[in-house]
Amino acid sequence: MKGVILVGGLGTRLAPMTRVTNKHLLPVGRFPMVYYPLHALTEAGIEEVILVTGGNSCGSFLELLHDGSEFGLKTLYYAFQHAPRGIADALRLAEAFVNGDDCIVMLGDNIVDGSLRPFVDNFRSQGGGARVLLKEVPDPERFGVPEFGPDQRITRIIEKPPHPPSSYAVMGVYAYDADLWDILPGLQLSERGQYEITDVNNVYLSQGRLGYDVFEHQWSDAGTPESLHRASEIAWASDFVPCPREPRA
Ligand code: G1P
Repeated sequence: MKGVILVGGLGTRLAPMTRVTNKHLLPVGRFPMVYYPLHALTEAGIEEVILVTGGNSCGSFLELLHDGSEFGLKTLYYAFQHAPRGIADALRLAEAFVNGDDCIVMLGDNIVDGSLRPFVDNFRSQGGGARVLLKEVPDPERFGVPEFGPDQRITRIIEKPPHPPSSYAVMGVYAYDADLWDILPGLQLSERGQYEITDVNNVYLSQGRLGYDVFEHQWSDAGTPESLHRASEIAWASDFVPCPREPRA
């Protein structure tokens, strides 16, 4: 199982904090934001990770994270995204690294205060396809939102719906099998000019191969000043924080 962390984009909703630096390097609690998704993946047993970056200060990730050994990673690779054209576009850059394995994709601005291990284990038991994590939120219109049928199956996922069909957000943590790489080239640009991860998930859904879990711990994204503040509150209050160790000699 490989890990993919997406830390590109321009972070425009956090300007001017992101005018000269990358959003994922901003402080959250005691650490730079990117430490949290790295910790979440390694804690779930993932030892090989690629960071897909771009935008401002993207070279700083190398200076900050080196070979990833402080997180217990076997390998940490880096890829460069030329233009910020969405999550599903950034994902294409991870194909050679993932090399036909299953992967867990995590958005670099997602902060969790509990383990992703049950989600990873459930995906393994699912036997292929894709899996998403849901969290009940007060403001679902900011996210990808699942619509449920009478049997609690997801019927579709809608990206940032003005009238959300449920109070759940699709978190920025996804599990995919190798069919992902056949789906990505078929995507169309959305109205906001991006290749949407929600479109990927809806393809798996239409094939009846999208599972989900509801996350039991706290979660926040950190893409706006308000959510960055909330992410910091979660980080300060939580025991589930990165615990860097001595780097590899
Ligand atoms: C992205 C996804 C959205 C998801 C969210 C989670 O939104 O498009 O479906 O709910 O991440 O953080 P963005 O932050 O790019 O607006």
